[in-house]
Amino acid sequence: MISYFMPVKFYFGKNALVDHGDELKQFGKKAMVVTGRSSAKLSGALDELITVFEENNQEYMVFDKIRENPYLSTVHEGAERLEEFGADFVIGIGGGSPIDAAKAISAIAKNNLQNDQIYKAKKYIKDAYPIIAIPTTSGTGTEVTPYSVITDKKADKKAGFGSPHIFPKISFVDPKYTLSLPYKVTKDTAIDALSHLLEGIYSQNRNVVNCPIIKRGIKLIIDNLPLCLNDLKKYSVRENLMLASTYGGMVIAQSGTTVQHSIGYPLTSQYEISHGLANGLVMKQIMEKFYPILKEDLDDLFDYLEMNKEDFYEWLESLNLNAGVNIGDWFVEEKPAEVLKSRNMALNPVEISAEDIKIIYKTLQ
Ligand SMILES: [Fe+2]
Repeated sequence: MISYFMPVKFYFGKNALVDHGDELKQFGKKAMVVTGRSSAKLSGALDELITVFEENNQEYMVFDKIRENPYLSTVHEGAERLEEFGADFVIGIGGGSPIDAAKAISAIAKNNLQNDQIYKAKKYIKDAYPIIAIPTTSGTGTEVTPYSVITDKKADKKAGFGSPHIFPKISFVDPKYTLSLPYKVTKDTAIDALSHLLEGIYSQNRNVVNCPIIKRGIKLIIDNLPLCLNDLKKYSVRENLMLASTYGGMVIAQSGTTVQHSIGYPLTSQYEISHGLANGLVMKQIMEKFYPILKEDLDDLFDYLEMNKEDFYEWLESLNLNAGVNIGDWFVEEKPAEVLKSRNMALNPVEISAEDIKIIYKTLQ
């Protein structure tokens, strides 16, 4: 039996928001816009959205306090602001962080969640304010997923939660917003998308409906990322990377993520290594670990890509991914226990031990 649930309506392409912004009218009179410090403005997305509000005769407030790896305390503050303003719906503009924060704010406010109840989504999230997503990076795929990753600073943990109630109602995916992204963000976010697509093969919850999407998405990244890094302003290449990212989101929305993601979270919280880069640094090691058990599926992928595993590793190598920090011995010793506790570890195709994780972290030293 196959089941496939992807309830997000999305518009993909140039001027998606401008051409279809009138659809926001159905969600009410007042919108809360959740953004970071600059990307919503730099990308041009916020200006376009404000024009849409004017045309729709809608009121809005902007909550622009979201930073990379948003804190639980910040989304609680956002939920308070939502209530004060009386917003009918929430719009996240930005990379993964503002959109994930918009999801969290919507769920906290609607269900009156306290403290860290959000991480027990099944028990506590019964509804949410309508969420609209406008991505300005191509990597997380959060515009089509029921997930959000929020850092609980008090408990020193970066962790995700998921609920079908936080799937965006509509996503406006316009590749032109990514034209202003710098080199490093472009590279790291594309690697995040690549991780999501690969994890669609690794996950025990893999969904065969996604097989063609996974292959096509990975090919789009392999072919287009080097071109994009050579010419950051080329629209057609940006469009291909954005499509691959949305594919990646559709894949993890069904299949979840695996150790490929869990192992990177401590690198991000401890050393501020970007999420995508953290995934990239361990990508080869994880593939090596899973290859024996997934040989048939991965060879099928490599046939489609017209390369073999070694060619793929060479491509990865050509990106020159580098942690740029010294990973401490204490980190290698202590963090595997935290990784093992992560929920997505249940989806690995083979059991991963603390020792396996330690060995992978050691390769980064
Ligand atoms: Fe990711």
